Amino acid sequence: MKGSLIIAHRGASAYAPENTIASFLKAIEMNSDGIELDVHMTKDKALVVCHDETVNRTTNGDGFIKDHTLQEIKELDAGSWFGEQFRGEKIPVLEEVMDLIKDKDMLLNIELKNAPILYEGIEKRVIDIIKSYNMEERVIISSFNHFSLIEVKKYNPKIKTGVLYMAGLVEPWVYAKRLKADALHPLFYNLMIPEIVKGCQENGIMLNPFTVDDDKFIAAMIKLNVNGIITNYPDRGIKIRDNIIG
Ligand code: G3P
Ligand code: MG
Repeated sequence: MKGSLIIAHRGASAYAPENTIASFLKAIEMNSDGIELDVHMTKDKALVVCHDETVNRTTNGDGFIKDHTLQEIKELDAGSWFGEQFRGEKIPVLEEVMDLIKDKDMLLNIELKNAPILYEGIEKRVIDIIKSYNMEERVIISSFNHFSLIEVKKYNPKIKTGVLYMAGLVEPWVYAKRLKADALHPLFYNLMIPEIVKGCQENGIMLNPFTVDDDKFIAAMIKLNVNGIITNYPDRGIKIRDNIIG
């Protein structure tokens, strides 16, 4: 048994600037089973990989992504805030990351950042790209905007969806089924309640908790046999899993 998949959160973002090619390469180098990334849409409708709705925190630029063209986004330095050795890293477009992993046996978790800023049509644009790469089987789309997850299923029921949430929902598997979702992506604390894990597993809803960085919580999640663990430290996750599963 392989145990829980280890999914690198924004790439191996403890070691390289989040959501850059450097962080995704690091995740690959560490043998992560998958990567998680965040997607926004530019003024000219390109899909770019960045966590925040503005470029302020992670680049030398400022302002909202929706107000920049792709060309303007590509002029920004998305690496030096993290470390001088990463100067020159760019904000990638989604396709660049897909190019990186298309020939690898890796899962891709695309988080649609479709709130508070709403990017009209982002679901279809993302799904069309997934389809063009023939990667429907190994992508999971997640979002805190659950209307987006309904849109995904309407447009292509084959694409897996994951419901992101923070608060302690009661019987969250019921809600997941209501959305026709395949997985729950809870803040990991929610899974410390055994009934929640049991209910999801009995109802065939996958569990991919975030963001699990602490050794003892990584171990706890592996012992619960969750499907995936979203972590900034994929190396830790793999080491702990190997110790537990053997
Ligand atoms: O997808 C898991 C996690 O990334 C959700 O929160 O804010 O890190 O995108 P955030
Ligand atoms: Mg995310």
